[in-house]
Amino acid sequence: MGQTLGQVVDTVLDRSVVLGYSRIGSGLRAHWWPADAPPDALAGRRVLVTGATSGIGAAAVDGYLSLGATVHLLGRNAEKVAAAVAARHLGDRLVGEVCDVGDLDAVRRWAADFTGRVPELHAVLHNAGTMTGDRRETSAQGHELSLAVHVLGPHLLTGLLLPALRHAGDASVVWMSSGGMYGARLHADDEDDIEYRTGDYDGVRAYARTKRMQVVLAAAWAESLADSGVAVTSMHPGWSGTPGVVEHLPRFEKVARPLLRTAADAADTAIWLVATRPRSVAPHFWHDRAQRPVTFPGQRPPSPDAVQRLVDHVVEATGQPLVSGP
Ligand SMILES: NC(=O)c1ccc[n+]([C@@H]2O[C@H](COP(=O)([O-])OP(=O)(O)OC[C@H]3O[C@@H](n4cnc5c(N)ncnc54)[C@H](OP(=O)(O)O)[C@@H]3O)[C@@H](O)[C@H]2O)c1
Repeated sequence: MGQTLGQVVDTVLDRSVVLGYSRIGSGLRAHWWPADAPPDALAGRRVLVTGATSGIGAAAVDGYLSLGATVHLLGRNAEKVAAAVAARHLGDRLVGEVCDVGDLDAVRRWAADFTGRVPELHAVLHNAGTMTGDRRETSAQGHELSLAVHVLGPHLLTGLLLPALRHAGDASVVWMSSGGMYGARLHADDEDDIEYRTGDYDGVRAYARTKRMQVVLAAAWAESLADSGVAVTSMHPGWSGTPGVVEHLPRFEKVARPLLRTAADAADTAIWLVATRPRSVAPHFWHDRAQRPVTFPGQRPPSPDAVQRLVDHVVEATGQPLVSGP
């Protein structure tokens, strides 16, 4: 198929949502998307994956390992982490890490320990994800849980790991967002109810809001770190029938099951982004090895003022500035 026709079909898939996000999307796009990374693309490189005990994170771990990386597999549950490491029989090439990324104090403690052990890190995949129900839950520091796990924790972690990432020279930070973010506008600060304190709380909406924030924040980090050697992108994986989807969206999983991607398929772009470090332009949002718009036609993108207010809010809530410079 010619490139131009491929691009047209790709866009149609994207706009149709169901076709693009399902395994039909990746199955078709694999005919024309950019080439795989060479088999040893990540030999001698170190990659950290959060939320790596299950689903897409676990598949990403296997993808990075298969390209030769040493992988740090991070989860919040020590037993699950130990079991995931033991099951792969890889010796020093796979290291278990325990940290609740929604707990800012735990992130600070863990990052201090990690950077003491690992001075050079080539990539972080911010993959840990959660979905609350219809009751608002909070983190150890009292933040709405989706905000803490998807936004505040990864932001803080990015800042704390930056010296190790810079040391690596050509590093990557990838934020695993969701196509669900298209359904949410940006909630930027307290005036905009970023902590979801008002109205009927809905975990699916909280998820979508914070997935939108991830995309905006990743783009802000990318801009700050332009020319630093640390490439920052966000992405969405399409739809995959992972343990998280089975648990939190059982009806969706049942109806969509024949169309859902495998976890490996959903992790593909996260692996490819780290292994190939493609050229990326603002707003740095990827899906199926191509950059995608961050709004659907007719939707207004977040204003520069709202973006700045989100950054200011996250910086204040975490005490972690958006570091800039080469
Ligand atoms: N599956 C999809 O169709 C889909 C679609 C769009 C976006 N995504 C995104 O893809 C990512 C992975 O989702 P998944 O479907 O693979 O879900 P999953 O099977 O539920 O896996 C989520 C992982 O995150 C971990 N986790 C949750 N909270 C954590 C915390 N506070 N600290 C550290 N780890 C934590 C979980 O640990 P435990 O095992 O201990 O619970 C688990 O390992 C998420 O960011 C999700 O939003 C998925």
